[in-house]
Amino acid sequence: MYDLNSEFKDKVCLITGGSSGIGRGIAIDFGKAGAKVIVADIQEKSKIGKYHDTDIKTTTSEEIKKNGGISEFFECDCSDEKSINGLISHIENKYGKLDILVNNAGMHIPGTIEDISVKEWDKVVNLNLRGIFLLSKKSIGMLKQSKSGRIINIASIHAFHGVLGPAYAPSKSAVVNLTKNIAITLGKYNITANCICPGYIETPIQDYNTQKEISDYKKTLPLNRFGKPSDIANAVLFFASNKSDWITGAYLIVDGGDSAS
Ligand SMILES: NC(=O)c1ccc[n+]([C@@H]2O[C@H](COP(=O)([O-])OP(=O)(O)OC[C@H]3O[C@@H](n4cnc5c(N)ncnc54)[C@H](O)[C@@H]3O)[C@@H](O)[C@H]2O)c1
Repeated sequence: MYDLNSEFKDKVCLITGGSSGIGRGIAIDFGKAGAKVIVADIQEKSKIGKYHDTDIKTTTSEEIKKNGGISEFFECDCSDEKSINGLISHIENKYGKLDILVNNAGMHIPGTIEDISVKEWDKVVNLNLRGIFLLSKKSIGMLKQSKSGRIINIASIHAFHGVLGPAYAPSKSAVVNLTKNIAITLGKYNITANCICPGYIETPIQDYNTQKEISDYKKTLPLNRFGKPSDIANAVLFFASNKSDWITGAYLIVDGGDSAS
């Protein structure tokens, strides 16, 4: 972990989907680094997974406060414009600024183009892509006021492969492209936009797999272990820090070498 404590003191940081999994890990690390962390999610309680995060007892904000940090939960459906408007107004009124936006909320519904319904497709794309568009758009005003606003989007290594359904993988490809577009447009305000493409991270999103699929997959990984939310948090904190001042429009694959072959 970098020693970035002083840099993030007084920074206001919004993490979508921050109650569970990767978002929880990112939020906890920003809390440890001294940021004011707003956890936005449809539910405050952490998801309990079948294989991972099976015994989480605290909410993310409770965990951050236990570590001496500052955090609050705000209920928000990140696929819903009205709900996002409420979140943005809350941040404007309470903090008067936003320095770091982490667009992490995302979902996967298994199924091929033959069996996934139009409603399911819409649901995935509305959260994974439209949600990022909306949150980024509505945060511009506050990010502009920050001396160095940051947008960090969580895509996936599936952005580059066609194997994870007709909704999830295409939505993640679009996130990589949207990140580049945001970077080009908002660079003039010294706002950077970057994207992280995780491989398999141990979170409740993996519940749709079978135990055998998971153990077979693990054997194929060069580093011989799955990722943890903290592996992604490390990359997010880098993109949020001044060490990445001249990086924008980039994507970083964090997958333990999975996509190297
Ligand atoms: N875990 C992985 O292996 C992996 C790999 C690549 C990318 N990702 C991406 O990382 C992000 C986080 O995934 P995760 O593994 O932590 O998933 P997760 O299912 O463990 O957690 C997702 C969180 O998002 C919240 N959420 C769901 N719908 C929401 C909505 N409409 N509005 C607000 N919040 C909502 C959930 O309540 C939950 O807290 C997602 O974008 C996912 O696609 C995950």
